[in-house]
Order: sequence, then structure tokens, then C-alpha cells
Amino acid sequence: MALSGVCIYPGSFDPITNGHLNIIERSLKIFRTVIVAVAINAKKTPLFSIPERVKLIEDSLKETLSEEDLKRVKVDHFEGLLIDYAKKKKARAIIRGLRAVSDFEFEFQMASMNRKLSPDVEMLFMMTDESNFYISSQTVKEVLSLGGCVEGLVPKAARRAMVKKFKERKQES
Ligand code: PNS
Repeated sequence: MALSGVCIYPGSFDPITNGHLNIIERSLKIFRTVIVAVAINAKKTPLFSIPERVKLIEDSLKETLSEEDLKRVKVDHFEGLLIDYAKKKKARAIIRGLRAVSDFEFEFQMASMNRKLSPDVEMLFMMTDESNFYISSQTVKEVLSLGGCVEGLVPKAARRAMVKKFKERKQES
């Protein structure tokens, strides 16, 4: 199949998980270019800064993707409305992963609002791979901060960075 078009894969990515990586890999089978876009959200208190999150995504993609695929992924950040960013990047679609019914309400609301703002950019949803359906950045951070094992749930780069961050925080307190 000839690949065409740009899609945006937006999120907080605090940090990137194997679930996110799976969505990126599958998006690359449909679109020529995938832009992974880290949202700046003043309402959230993240563990990692925006440059840290961008770097973690880049390092994780290097661990996972072939050189060919790597050339077709860009990692960026944006502030403001996602739909404005998508239009600026001339994206045909915005991709979101769906894990469970509990994700649906928020995603449906967001998709409807985005469509109202601009019907030209399609929202596409991918069901998360069955091995990743229970993974979220939030739960992974909680498990690791309490001494649990997150092997196989996040890329190695993200695990190392979280271990370092929690160690630093412990030393500070
Ligand atoms: O990984 P997340 O936290 O579920 O990602 C949510 C995100 C960043 C995709 C969403 O909050 C977003 O699109 N923020 C940008 C602001 C915006 O466009 N809001 C209007 C949509 S309702």
C-alpha cells in the first residue's frame, strides 16, 4: 500500500509507554509521516519537562523502530489548540489510542469538539494492543515510585529516566 499524508499523535507522554509505541508503529503502516506531539498543559504537574519528554520519545523510538521508519517520525511539542496545530502541520488526521470503555467518554467529547472546530481534520481511534490495554503513564509512575517492576511496560530509556527522577526526588526530600 502506498503511504501518504501526515498524522498527528498527540498526548502528554509523561513518560512514553509501550502502549504509545505500539500506536506509533501501527500509524506508520497507514501514514507517510507521523508527528508525535507533546502537549504543553499548564493544568497538569508532570514528572518530566517538555524537552525531557521529547528526548525520551526520541530515544525510545531509536530503540524500537527501523532506520527507515525512524525517518518518517517527527517528535515535536505544541501549545494551544490541538486542531490549530494539526492544521498548521497540514495533517489529515489525529490519532488517539483507546484502551477501555473508560477512555471513550473523554475521547468522544474531545473528538466532537475538534470536529466542531474543524471538520477537515479527521480523528482516528486505534484500539490498544491487548498486551498494552492496562498500561498508562500514570499507573507506571505510581508502580515504579512505590518500588514495583515496570519491565516490559515502558521503553528502557523511560524506565531509566523515571528511576533517576524518583531517586533525585527522594534525595531532595
Ligand atoms: O495524553 P493525554 O493527556 O490524554 O492527551 C490529551 C491531549 C493533549 C491530547 C488533549 O488534552 C489536547 O488535545 N490538548 C490540547 C488543547 C485542546 O486542543 N483542547 C481542546 C480539545 S477538547
